[in-house]
Amino acid sequence: MKTQTIRGFKDILPGDIKRWHFIEDTSKAILELYGFSEIRTPLLEFTEVFSRGLGTTTDIVEKEMYTFEDRDGSSITLRPEGTASIVRSYIENSMHLKSPITKLYYIGPMFRHERPQKGRYRSFNQIGAELFGSYDPQYDAEIIIMLWQLFEQSGISAYLTIELSSLGDDKCRPAYKEEITKALKAKENELCEDCKRRLKTNPLRILDCKKETCSNVTSDLPSILDFLCTECKAHFSRVKQLLNMMDVEYVINPKIVRGLDYYNRTVFEVTTTELGSQNAVAAGGRYDGLVKELGGQDTPAIGFALGIERMILLHEKLNPEGFNKKTDLYIAYLDDKFENFAMKTAFELRQRGIVVEVDYNDKSLKSKLKRANKLGAKYTMIIGEEEFDRGKVKIRNMESSTEEEIGIYEIP
Ligand code: HAM
Repeated sequence: MKTQTIRGFKDILPGDIKRWHFIEDTSKAILELYGFSEIRTPLLEFTEVFSRGLGTTTDIVEKEMYTFEDRDGSSITLRPEGTASIVRSYIENSMHLKSPITKLYYIGPMFRHERPQKGRYRSFNQIGAELFGSYDPQYDAEIIIMLWQLFEQSGISAYLTIELSSLGDDKCRPAYKEEITKALKAKENELCEDCKRRLKTNPLRILDCKKETCSNVTSDLPSILDFLCTECKAHFSRVKQLLNMMDVEYVINPKIVRGLDYYNRTVFEVTTTELGSQNAVAAGGRYDGLVKELGGQDTPAIGFALGIERMILLHEKLNPEGFNKKTDLYIAYLDDKFENFAMKTAFELRQRGIVVEVDYNDKSLKSKLKRANKLGAKYTMIIGEEEFDRGKVKIRNMESSTEEEIGIYEIP
């Protein structure tokens, strides 16, 4: 048997990790600016957390979860997303007692058994934020503004568009659902097999189907925004007004239904045209009923998650040169008897935060200088017999190819 990664899973190699650190560090810094604190929850949860949380008729729960029987017979699942786990933790740790507003963020891997393609993997990483405790549209706007700031700081906002809609609530959505179910039933024959099934279980999801035949059918349907009740309409107007005030651009897309059932009112996706069919780089919305659904008190909430791999793909396009680690100093010694001195000098310089590389082998000076160049070293210290006997070493500036001697006790 060949040892290899599981299909749809991949390694993040050292050559790419700097870009990952950049995206993660930039995101963390922005999230902390807005008062979010990091939370880490287990990768495995009881299956019920997701089946009840995301909705039993969603694609994720129906066909994409990695579900196993644990040794004691209980059903457990590798998390396909973060929100349901965070809600479980919010309830279990009685976070509502600690603060009226709770702001949490998380970074880590999620698992969905989807068909792998560029930008879509079976194991992928998300950065997500969840805010509990308020119905106020100011928070909806603030979350979207924060997300946009995060994309701007990461240098990829030029490739992105915010798409915004409202899904209404339990008061106004049923009428819309009824209306489109009636219209879709009349054209049932034109729908794909999945959508024929969705017509019975979850008709709103048909709006999201990417198949041409289905989108032809849905293009004539009325917009959910025309069905919003007075409260939902006012809520949505205020979100838009605040985004306008902050000059955050967006487009209204009433076809956003999201692949998870917990949403109500504000929903949004941040999309790109650069990644083929995997066009959503981040997505989120309000989910005022989920905490109660999972056994907690009635607590409104809103959040989003972004796909790190998709951000990385965009970042690579805009910054193909990447962020290679630069070596400050490469130490090349020309005789084994200087090995101890080289190791000690490297240790002392590293103690001071200087990035030092030494090759402990007996290659020629020429090949050592070649390697110093490859590492992007700014300087090379050349330790040769003749200078060392005079208490000196050579320092070569790799960019200008000039050399000077310094005393071994002058090495900083
Ligand atoms: P989602 O739309 O399922 O929402 O995923 C959010 C983001 O994760 C997507 O926009 C995409 O960038 C990335 N993503 C999803 N699936 C994959 C995949 N197979 N491969 C690579 N990247 C992927 C959620 O997960 C919600 N929990 C978001 C949320 C948080 N809503 C409220 N709070």
